[in-house]
Amino acid sequence: MKVTVVGAGAVGATCADNIARAAICQDLVLLDIKEGLAEGKAQDMMQTAALLGFDTRITGSTNDYSKTAGSDVVVITSGIPRKPGMTREELIGTNAGIVKGVCENILKYSPDAIIIVISNPMDTMTYLALQSTGLPKNRIIGMGGTLDSSRFKYQLSQQLGCSAGDLNALVIGGHGDTTMIPLIRFATWNSVPVTQFLDADKQKQIVADTMVGGATLTKLIGTSAWYAPGAAGAALVKSILRDEKKLFTCCVSLNGEYGQSDICLGVPVVVGRNGWEKIIDFPLNESEKDLFGKSADAVRSMNEVLKTL
Ligand code: 2OP
Repeated sequence: MKVTVVGAGAVGATCADNIARAAICQDLVLLDIKEGLAEGKAQDMMQTAALLGFDTRITGSTNDYSKTAGSDVVVITSGIPRKPGMTREELIGTNAGIVKGVCENILKYSPDAIIIVISNPMDTMTYLALQSTGLPKNRIIGMGGTLDSSRFKYQLSQQLGCSAGDLNALVIGGHGDTTMIPLIRFATWNSVPVTQFLDADKQKQIVADTMVGGATLTKLIGTSAWYAPGAAGAALVKSILRDEKKLFTCCVSLNGEYGQSDICLGVPVVVGRNGWEKIIDFPLNESEKDLFGKSADAVRSMNEVLKTL
């Protein structure tokens, strides 16, 4: 199995590091446009192999896509990250051109690859990847909801004083500070609804903190986060390569599901060897449906910007 991670910045390198540690592929390529960056980080990671006990071969490449040939999965992290005070949406002008170019180059050498999009604004970049490549919809996966759901579990675990691993909780909708929808009504702590342990104010706080999870970190660090985004990308790669059929929220093409069409948006999907394999229909109540519709409207108007670029 072979995986390529495009972009050797903090998110891309962390994603590659997680993939290598999980020992889930023989070959891993890290590619970046900045001379020497990917080669250096690849070598640094390879120098952890003896310590961590993995045999994945990690190769760095400065923009030479021939090295990525025959990849089964490609993770796209390229583009500029946001600075404090910026929304993910403000990155669209710069990142759209980059993501489109990366998709073209990748498919020249790996026509059968499954593509995972991490670049922001993630919902619009996923839509762009789908439109510009014309690939079957199951092979284009946006990572956002996987990350947001993990952040949701973090917030819940802090309030409940429990292990994040004992929680089931999903965030659907867009990967934006105002477009994501943490579904607290469905969240459980080992099958018991978390709403039984949290009063209404606490529930509201957890939802609000989850929604600004990325912005909070950007403010603290001075740039966009990378540990959880990189780990989320790697978790999807693992579910694909090992055909785990895990349920994640991913940004995928909707054709009538959840009442939406001609859009990529975060919904619960099963992820396996064929990419995202099926959409799971959660019985949303009227207010959740309303939030999902509003989220779709916001993402759709961002997608419209693509036409003006
Ligand atoms: C985040 O939310 C990178 O969009 C990503 O941190």
